Amino acid sequence: MAVLAHVSDLHATPVRVRRPLDFAGKRFLGWLSWRVRRRNVHVARVLEALVDDLQAVAPDQVAVTGDLTNVASREEFPEALGWLERLGGPGRVSVVPGNHDAYVAVPREASWDHWTDYLRSDGETGPTAFPTLRTRGPLALVGVSSAHPTLPLFASGMVGAPQLEALERRLRELADSGLCRVILIHHPITEGVVSSRRALRDAGALRAVLARAGAELVLHGHGHRTLFSEVPGPAGPIPVVGVRSASDATDRVEKRAQYHLYEIESRGSGFRIETRIRGWNGAGRFQPIAERRL
Ligand SMILES: [Fe+2]
Repeated sequence: MAVLAHVSDLHATPVRVRRPLDFAGKRFLGWLSWRVRRRNVHVARVLEALVDDLQAVAPDQVAVTGDLTNVASREEFPEALGWLERLGGPGRVSVVPGNHDAYVAVPREASWDHWTDYLRSDGETGPTAFPTLRTRGPLALVGVSSAHPTLPLFASGMVGAPQLEALERRLRELADSGLCRVILIHHPITEGVVSSRRALRDAGALRAVLARAGAELVLHGHGHRTLFSEVPGPAGPIPVVGVRSASDATDRVEKRAQYHLYEIESRGSGFRIETRIRGWNGAGRFQPIAERRL
Protein backbone atom coordinates (compact mmCIF):
# COMPACT_ATOMS: atom_id res chain seq x y z
CA MET A 1 0.00 0.00 0.00
CA ALA A 2 1.12 3.55 -0.70
CA VAL A 3 -0.11 6.78 0.87
CA LEU A 4 -0.14 9.79 -1.44
CA ALA A 5 -0.87 13.30 -0.15
CA HIS A 6 -2.31 15.88 -2.52
CA VAL A 7 -1.83 19.60 -1.85
CA SER A 8 -2.46 22.50 -4.21
CA ASP A 9 -2.69 26.24 -4.71
CA LEU A 10 -0.22 27.30 -2.01
CA HIS A 11 -0.06 30.92 -3.26
CA ALA A 12 2.23 31.66 -0.37
CA THR A 13 5.00 33.71 -1.96
CA PRO A 14 4.94 37.44 -1.20
CA VAL A 15 4.80 39.72 -4.25
CA ARG A 16 7.56 42.32 -4.01
CA VAL A 17 7.79 45.01 -6.65
CA ARG A 18 11.55 45.25 -7.21
CA ARG A 19 11.47 46.26 -10.88
CA PRO A 20 8.31 48.35 -11.47
CA LEU A 21 8.54 47.78 -15.22
CA ASP A 22 7.97 44.06 -14.62
CA PHE A 23 4.62 45.00 -13.12
CA ALA A 24 3.16 46.76 -16.14
CA GLY A 25 0.06 45.04 -17.56
CA LYS A 26 -1.47 41.87 -16.13
CA ARG A 27 1.00 41.60 -13.26
CA PHE A 28 -0.17 44.98 -11.94
CA LEU A 29 -3.73 43.65 -11.57
CA GLY A 30 -2.34 40.53 -9.91
CA TRP A 31 -0.24 42.57 -7.51
CA LEU A 32 -3.29 44.71 -6.64
CA SER A 33 -5.41 41.65 -5.97
CA TRP A 34 -2.64 40.17 -3.78
CA ARG A 35 -2.12 43.43 -1.91
CA VAL A 36 -5.81 44.05 -1.21
CA ARG A 37 -7.06 40.52 -0.60
CA ARG A 38 -4.99 37.47 -1.40
CA ARG A 39 -2.12 38.09 1.02
CA ASN A 40 -4.67 37.94 3.86
CA VAL A 41 -6.26 34.77 2.48
CA HIS A 42 -3.22 32.61 1.68
CA VAL A 43 -0.97 32.81 4.67
CA ALA A 44 2.32 31.24 5.65
CA ARG A 45 1.17 30.14 9.11
CA VAL A 46 -1.30 27.70 7.53
CA LEU A 47 1.48 26.24 5.39
CA GLU A 48 3.68 25.98 8.47
CA ALA A 49 0.92 23.89 10.07
CA LEU A 50 0.62 21.86 6.86
CA VAL A 51 4.35 21.09 6.93
CA ASP A 52 4.00 19.96 10.56
CA ASP A 53 0.96 17.84 9.79
CA LEU A 54 2.62 16.14 6.83
CA GLN A 55 5.59 15.37 9.02
CA ALA A 56 3.31 13.72 11.58
CA VAL A 57 1.15 11.85 9.04
CA ALA A 58 4.24 10.86 7.00
CA PRO A 59 2.71 9.97 3.60
CA ASP A 60 4.96 8.08 1.19
CA GLN A 61 4.54 10.70 -1.52
CA VAL A 62 3.28 14.27 -1.87
CA ALA A 63 1.75 15.66 -5.08
CA VAL A 64 1.55 19.44 -5.54
CA THR A 65 -0.75 20.54 -8.37
CA GLY A 66 0.44 24.05 -9.04
CA ASP A 67 -0.15 27.68 -8.19
CA LEU A 68 2.74 27.93 -5.79
CA THR A 69 3.19 31.58 -6.78
CA ASN A 70 0.90 34.58 -7.25
CA VAL A 71 2.05 36.59 -10.27
CA ALA A 72 5.06 34.49 -11.41
CA SER A 73 7.55 37.22 -10.52
CA ARG A 74 11.22 36.28 -10.46
CA GLU A 75 11.48 36.35 -6.68
CA GLU A 76 8.53 34.02 -6.18
CA PHE A 77 10.05 30.91 -7.79
CA PRO A 78 13.02 30.49 -5.41
CA GLU A 79 10.69 31.28 -2.49
CA ALA A 80 8.28 28.60 -3.64
CA LEU A 81 11.22 26.19 -3.88
CA GLY A 82 11.78 26.84 -0.18
CA TRP A 83 8.23 25.59 0.55
CA LEU A 84 8.78 22.52 -1.63
CA GLU A 85 11.96 21.70 0.26
CA ARG A 86 10.05 21.93 3.50
CA LEU A 87 7.46 19.49 2.18
CA GLY A 88 10.19 17.03 1.30
CA GLY A 89 12.91 16.14 -1.19
CA PRO A 90 12.32 15.58 -4.92
CA GLY A 91 12.20 11.81 -4.38
CA ARG A 92 9.07 12.31 -2.30
CA VAL A 93 7.44 15.47 -3.70
CA SER A 94 6.19 15.82 -7.29
CA VAL A 95 4.94 19.06 -8.82
CA VAL A 96 3.07 20.37 -11.85
CA PRO A 97 2.73 24.12 -12.48
CA GLY A 98 -0.52 26.13 -12.37
CA ASN A 99 -1.79 29.16 -14.21
CA HIS A 100 -0.39 31.55 -11.60
CA ASP A 101 3.05 30.03 -12.21
CA ALA A 102 2.64 31.14 -15.84
CA TYR A 103 0.81 34.36 -14.99
CA VAL A 104 2.66 36.11 -17.79
CA ALA A 105 5.26 34.64 -20.14
CA VAL A 106 8.43 34.23 -18.06
CA PRO A 107 11.71 32.74 -19.34
CA ARG A 108 11.94 29.19 -18.08
CA GLU A 109 15.31 29.71 -16.44
CA ALA A 110 13.74 32.48 -14.33
CA SER A 111 10.71 30.42 -13.39
CA TRP A 112 10.05 26.64 -13.25
CA ASP A 113 13.68 25.73 -13.77
CA HIS A 114 14.05 26.52 -10.05
CA TRP A 115 11.77 23.52 -9.43
CA THR A 116 13.25 21.18 -12.04
CA ASP A 117 14.16 18.44 -9.56
CA TYR A 118 10.55 18.38 -8.37
CA LEU A 119 9.03 18.51 -11.85
CA ARG A 120 10.93 16.35 -14.24
CA SER A 121 10.61 12.70 -15.15
CA ASP A 122 12.78 10.01 -13.57
CA GLY A 123 16.07 9.84 -15.39
CA GLU A 124 15.51 13.09 -17.32
CA THR A 125 18.60 15.27 -17.44
CA GLY A 126 17.55 18.13 -19.72
CA PRO A 127 14.77 20.66 -19.19
CA THR A 128 11.42 19.31 -18.02
CA ALA A 129 9.24 17.94 -20.81
CA PHE A 130 5.54 17.32 -20.10
CA PRO A 131 3.91 14.93 -19.54
CA THR A 132 6.33 13.77 -16.88
CA LEU A 133 6.52 10.30 -15.37
CA ARG A 134 7.76 9.56 -11.87
CA THR A 135 7.46 5.97 -10.66
CA ARG A 136 7.24 5.69 -6.90
CA GLY A 137 6.47 2.24 -5.47
CA PRO A 138 3.10 1.16 -6.90
CA LEU A 139 2.41 4.68 -8.24
CA ALA A 140 3.02 6.05 -11.72
CA LEU A 141 2.71 9.81 -11.20
CA VAL A 142 2.00 11.39 -14.58
CA GLY A 143 2.42 15.18 -14.53
CA VAL A 144 0.50 17.22 -17.10
CA SER A 145 1.11 20.94 -17.52
CA SER A 146 -1.97 23.08 -18.17
CA ALA A 147 -0.11 26.28 -17.23
CA HIS A 148 -0.30 28.73 -20.03
CA PRO A 149 -0.05 32.56 -20.03
CA THR A 150 -3.43 34.21 -20.67
CA LEU A 151 -4.90 37.67 -21.15
CA PRO A 152 -5.71 39.77 -18.05
CA LEU A 153 -8.76 38.51 -16.10
CA PHE A 154 -8.42 35.02 -17.61
CA ALA A 155 -7.16 31.99 -15.70
CA SER A 156 -7.77 29.34 -18.31
CA GLY A 157 -5.46 26.43 -19.06
CA MET A 158 -4.31 24.53 -22.10
CA VAL A 159 -2.57 21.16 -22.47
CA GLY A 160 -1.98 21.30 -26.22
CA ALA A 161 -2.02 18.63 -28.91
CA PRO A 162 1.64 17.49 -28.65
CA GLN A 163 1.35 16.91 -24.90
CA LEU A 164 -1.99 15.12 -25.31
CA GLU A 165 -0.48 12.77 -27.89
CA ALA A 166 2.50 12.01 -25.64
CA LEU A 167 0.14 11.51 -22.70
CA GLU A 168 -1.94 8.96 -24.59
CA ARG A 169 1.19 7.01 -25.56
CA ARG A 170 2.46 7.07 -22.00
CA LEU A 171 -0.84 5.94 -20.45
CA ARG A 172 -1.09 3.07 -22.94
CA GLU A 173 2.48 1.98 -22.18
CA LEU A 174 1.66 1.98 -18.47
CA ALA A 175 -1.68 0.20 -18.84
CA ASP A 176 -0.28 -3.30 -18.22
CA SER A 177 2.47 -2.28 -15.82
CA GLY A 178 0.50 -3.04 -12.68
CA LEU A 179 1.16 0.54 -11.56
CA CYS A 180 -1.57 2.90 -10.39
CA ARG A 181 -1.63 5.71 -12.97
CA VAL A 182 -2.25 8.99 -11.13
CA ILE A 183 -2.57 12.08 -13.32
CA LEU A 184 -1.55 15.38 -11.76
CA ILE A 185 -2.89 18.51 -13.45
CA HIS A 186 -3.68 21.98 -12.16
CA HIS A 187 -7.01 22.66 -13.92
CA PRO A 188 -10.20 20.60 -13.42
CA ILE A 189 -10.94 18.28 -16.34
CA THR A 190 -14.63 17.72 -15.60
CA GLU A 191 -17.05 19.82 -17.62
CA GLY A 192 -18.75 22.87 -16.13
CA VAL A 193 -17.08 23.03 -12.72
CA VAL A 194 -15.42 26.41 -13.25
CA SER A 195 -16.40 29.35 -15.47
CA SER A 196 -15.16 29.32 -19.08
CA ARG A 197 -12.82 32.18 -18.14
CA ARG A 198 -11.04 29.77 -15.74
CA ALA A 199 -11.51 26.46 -17.55
CA LEU A 200 -9.15 24.07 -19.29
CA ARG A 201 -9.71 24.90 -22.93
CA ASP A 202 -8.94 21.45 -24.29
CA ALA A 203 -10.54 19.48 -21.44
CA GLY A 204 -12.72 17.62 -23.96
CA ALA A 205 -9.66 16.36 -25.84
CA LEU A 206 -8.04 15.31 -22.55
CA ARG A 207 -11.17 13.43 -21.49
CA ALA A 208 -11.15 11.66 -24.87
CA VAL A 209 -7.53 10.56 -24.25
CA LEU A 210 -8.52 9.20 -20.84
CA ALA A 211 -11.58 7.45 -22.28
CA ARG A 212 -9.31 5.61 -24.73
CA ALA A 213 -6.12 5.05 -22.74
CA GLY A 214 -7.39 5.00 -19.11
CA ALA A 215 -5.97 6.09 -15.76
CA GLU A 216 -6.76 5.15 -12.17
CA LEU A 217 -7.04 8.62 -10.61
CA VAL A 218 -6.90 12.28 -11.65
CA LEU A 219 -5.94 14.96 -9.10
CA HIS A 220 -6.32 18.70 -9.64
CA GLY A 221 -6.51 22.05 -7.88
CA HIS A 222 -7.38 25.52 -9.24
CA GLY A 223 -10.99 25.71 -8.02
CA HIS A 224 -10.03 26.10 -4.33
CA ARG A 225 -12.98 23.78 -3.62
CA THR A 226 -13.43 20.10 -2.83
CA LEU A 227 -14.72 18.36 -5.91
CA PHE A 228 -15.37 14.64 -6.36
CA SER A 229 -16.31 13.71 -9.90
CA GLU A 230 -15.67 11.07 -12.58
CA VAL A 231 -14.86 10.88 -16.25
CA PRO A 232 -15.37 7.87 -18.53
CA GLY A 233 -12.51 5.38 -18.87
CA PRO A 234 -12.13 2.22 -20.96
CA ALA A 235 -12.84 -0.04 -17.96
CA GLY A 236 -15.34 2.18 -16.10
CA PRO A 237 -15.38 5.66 -14.55
CA ILE A 238 -12.08 7.29 -13.55
CA PRO A 239 -12.28 9.23 -10.26
CA VAL A 240 -11.33 12.92 -10.53
CA VAL A 241 -10.73 14.81 -7.30
CA GLY A 242 -10.13 18.51 -6.76
CA VAL A 243 -8.62 19.77 -3.53
CA ARG A 244 -8.94 23.15 -1.85
CA SER A 245 -6.08 25.59 -1.47
CA ALA A 246 -3.59 24.39 1.14
CA SER A 247 -3.11 27.85 2.61
CA ASP A 248 -6.57 29.50 2.86
CA ALA A 249 -7.04 30.98 6.33
CA THR A 250 -10.24 32.95 5.78
CA ASP A 251 -13.43 32.40 7.75
CA ARG A 252 -15.30 31.08 4.71
CA VAL A 253 -15.74 27.53 5.97
CA GLU A 254 -16.29 26.14 2.45
CA LYS A 255 -12.86 27.37 1.35
CA ARG A 256 -10.76 26.85 4.46
CA ALA A 257 -7.43 25.11 3.74
CA GLN A 258 -7.41 21.33 3.24
CA TYR A 259 -5.34 18.58 1.76
CA HIS A 260 -6.13 14.98 0.81
CA LEU A 261 -4.54 11.64 1.61
CA TYR A 262 -5.02 8.63 -0.66
CA GLU A 263 -4.39 5.10 0.54
CA ILE A 264 -3.82 3.13 -2.64
CA GLU A 265 -3.68 -0.65 -2.62
CA SER A 266 -3.57 -3.13 -5.46
CA ARG A 267 -6.78 -5.22 -5.44
CA GLY A 268 -7.31 -7.92 -8.08
CA SER A 269 -6.95 -6.32 -11.49
CA GLY A 270 -7.50 -2.81 -10.07
CA PHE A 271 -6.87 -0.67 -7.03
CA ARG A 272 -8.65 0.15 -3.82
CA ILE A 273 -8.42 3.89 -3.17
CA GLU A 274 -9.48 5.44 0.14
CA THR A 275 -9.46 9.20 0.64
CA ARG A 276 -8.96 11.06 3.87
CA ILE A 277 -9.42 14.82 4.02
CA ARG A 278 -7.50 16.85 6.57
CA GLY A 279 -8.22 20.54 7.11
CA TRP A 280 -7.05 23.69 8.87
CA ASN A 281 -9.02 24.09 12.09
CA GLY A 282 -8.65 27.86 12.28
CA ALA A 283 -6.59 27.51 15.45
CA GLY A 284 -3.14 26.48 14.40
CA ARG A 285 -3.33 22.95 13.10
CA PHE A 286 -4.78 20.48 10.60
CA GLN A 287 -7.24 17.79 11.72
CA PRO A 288 -9.31 14.98 10.18
CA ILE A 289 -12.39 16.22 8.27
CA ALA A 290 -13.85 13.28 6.31
CA GLU A 291 -13.14 9.90 4.72
CA ARG A 292 -14.37 8.51 1.45
CA ARG A 293 -13.80 5.45 -0.70
CA LEU A 294 -13.40 6.11 -4.42
FE1 LIG B 1 -5.19 28.17 -10.57
